[in-house]
Amino acid sequence: MKAIGVYYSKTGHTLMGLKRVQEGLESCGVEVKLVDVRKATDRDLAGMNIVIIGSPVHGGNAAKSVRKFLEGLSKGSMSNKICSIISSAYTGNTDRLMEYMSKRLDALGAEKIVSGVGYKAGVILSLFKGREMSEEAKKQCYELGVTLTKLNG
Ligand SMILES: Cc1cc2nc3c(=O)[nH]c(=O)nc-3n(C[C@H](O)[C@H](O)[C@H](O)COP(=O)(O)O)c2cc1C
Repeated sequence: MKAIGVYYSKTGHTLMGLKRVQEGLESCGVEVKLVDVRKATDRDLAGMNIVIIGSPVHGGNAAKSVRKFLEGLSKGSMSNKICSIISSAYTGNTDRLMEYMSKRLDALGAEKIVSGVGYKAGVILSLFKGREMSEEAKKQCYELGVTLTKLNG
C-alpha cells in the first residue's frame, strides 16, 4: 500500500502532524512519501492508495498554495483513494478548512474521506514558530495513520 502527504507548512507545525500520520502508516507497512504542495503535481497522486492533505489555517481557510493545488486537479484525481486532512491553527479552529477540503476532495472523486485532525499550534500569522502541537494531537495524528490503513481495499 502507498500513501502520499501533500502539504504546505510555513513554520513546521502542519508538517509535524503529517509526520506523525506517516509514522502511523509506516507502522502498518505503508510506503509513505511527503511532498511540498508547491512542487506537487497530479502525477504524484498516481498509484497512491491514501492521500493526506496538510495545511495550516490561513485567514480561516486552507493556505493559498493548497487551494491552488486542489483546485487545479482534474475531476477523478482522487478516485480509488482514501483521503484525509491535517491542519494546524493558532486558535485551534480548523472547522472551515476541514469543510472546504472535504468538499473539494469529494468533488475530486475521493473514494472515502476520513475525518482529519485539526490542532492548536503556532502563533498569529506564523510570525515566529510559537507553540508546538500537544502530545495528544500527536497521538491523534499517529492513530489517524493507523486507521487509514484499515479502510483500504
Ligand atoms: C497568512 C497567515 C494567515 C493566518 N491565519 C490564521 C487564521 O485565520 N486562524 C488561525 O488560527 N491561525 C492563522 N494563522 C496561523 C497559522 O495557522 C498557525 O501558526 C499554524 O500552526 C502554522 O502552521 P505551519 O507551521 O504548518 O505553517 C495564519 C498564518 C499565516 C501565515
